Amino acid sequence: MRYREAYRPQFHFSPEEKWMNDPNGLVYYDGTYHLFYQYYPGDIVWGPMHWGHAVSKDMVYWEHRPIALFPDEHGLIFSGSAVVDYENTSGFGTADKPPMVAIFTYHNMEGEQEGRSDFQTQGIAYSLDKGATWTKYQDNPVIGNEAGIRDFRDPKVFWHADSSSWIMVLVAGDHAKFYRSENLREWEYLSDFGKDVGAHGGVWECPDLFAMKDEETGEEKWVLLISINPGAPNGGSGTQYFIGNFNGTQFTSNQKDTRWLDWGTDNYAGVTYNNLPDEERLFIGWMSNWDYARDTPTENWRSAMTLPRNLRLLKKGDRFIVASSPVENFGTILKREVQESVQLASEASKTITFDNLNQAEVRFSTSGDFVLKFKNSLEEELVLTLDSDKNLFLLDRVASGKTAFKENFADKIQQMPVADLGDAPATFRILMDWSSIEVFINDGEYVMTAQLFPNEPYTELEIRNPSEEDLDIPDLEISRAETIW
Ligand code: FRU
Repeated sequence: MRYREAYRPQFHFSPEEKWMNDPNGLVYYDGTYHLFYQYYPGDIVWGPMHWGHAVSKDMVYWEHRPIALFPDEHGLIFSGSAVVDYENTSGFGTADKPPMVAIFTYHNMEGEQEGRSDFQTQGIAYSLDKGATWTKYQDNPVIGNEAGIRDFRDPKVFWHADSSSWIMVLVAGDHAKFYRSENLREWEYLSDFGKDVGAHGGVWECPDLFAMKDEETGEEKWVLLISINPGAPNGGSGTQYFIGNFNGTQFTSNQKDTRWLDWGTDNYAGVTYNNLPDEERLFIGWMSNWDYARDTPTENWRSAMTLPRNLRLLKKGDRFIVASSPVENFGTILKREVQESVQLASEASKTITFDNLNQAEVRFSTSGDFVLKFKNSLEEELVLTLDSDKNLFLLDRVASGKTAFKENFADKIQQMPVADLGDAPATFRILMDWSSIEVFINDGEYVMTAQLFPNEPYTELEIRNPSEEDLDIPDLEISRAETIW
């Protein structure tokens, strides 16, 4: 049996061995979902970056593939994206054999060490065998860094039908830059966005730009994802988004507030798939945080991706939000084993035992407040609290297990404002996979993702009613999740 080390996720993607960070080059082609990722094959901490590679037919089961991109004379291979060039605009293939093209950042370590500021540039590579092998473009880099922008990286490229061109968004420290191209080799600068809006607690990273339609009205909006590190609401790394418009040249937004795709500490650098049908927006994030990513207590490998998530645009009151929920296929590996109706008077509690809550899904709906504890025999506990007086949902991993590996891993309780849970009972879907928890409220209107490292699996689920009213949970379910490996 493979991949059974302590804390190894059983239904999330993780590399066979060694260090992984951001998802890269997410693209769907000819029935296959490709996942490339920031990878250092030499150690379980960050080092000279390659693009690792895996493929899936269903976004549930993954197969590992050989490393796709290696560092070269221009530098290490940092984050970026991939497209299918159907019309062979790049000339790297033929119309019959369209190339896949990867667009990434070169990070020149020698340049950085010499104190230069132009050490990040953009390069491309192509594959004529559906992603199996890659050739770097001989005239790399395709975008140089004459202005000497220190943080100049993470290009996301997509085909923009309205302007019949390739559009690129990348980040430059405190803002995003847009470019266009007709052939993926020559790029023309278009515009900037973001210096004066949104969160700026840290450097902007890993942008993504795409159109979405409101499910109800069909109204179209453009969404710009921007990861920032540090500056996230619960510390360290996080992903904010802007709702606005993109006219082929410029992204504009009237948004005044900062919106977060996920309020937990461990969903970073996430981006979406290219080349899916319009109405599908599939997202994968890196389930870690630069605050402690290199210190987590795993051996042989480090870190995992979030579950692939479906993004949806919704209108709440007079504003649009982006909701995210697990990809539908994921349901195929769940087996329901507990189904209960729970009624609790004020301050009453109930405990359900289940042999392994660390590879399971818990779901229910309720209109009341609750304190939910996942516990093991060592008295370690992960606590989720809904407090509607304060309009807060809390995730407390302070006593969840191993936490001392880094002082800022569990120094405070994570908070998520939940001002608008609606009149109907709110739905809660909680997925735990050995060393992670993902919480989706109301089908992903509110989301929290966090890592955790209990010394033994949790085997008890305690539900307490902290309020003065009765608590009614008519439909508590626990499902076991099968392993995907
Ligand atoms: C985000 C990031 C990117 C960069 C990559 C390097 O986590 O810092 O901005 O391209 O990681 O591995």
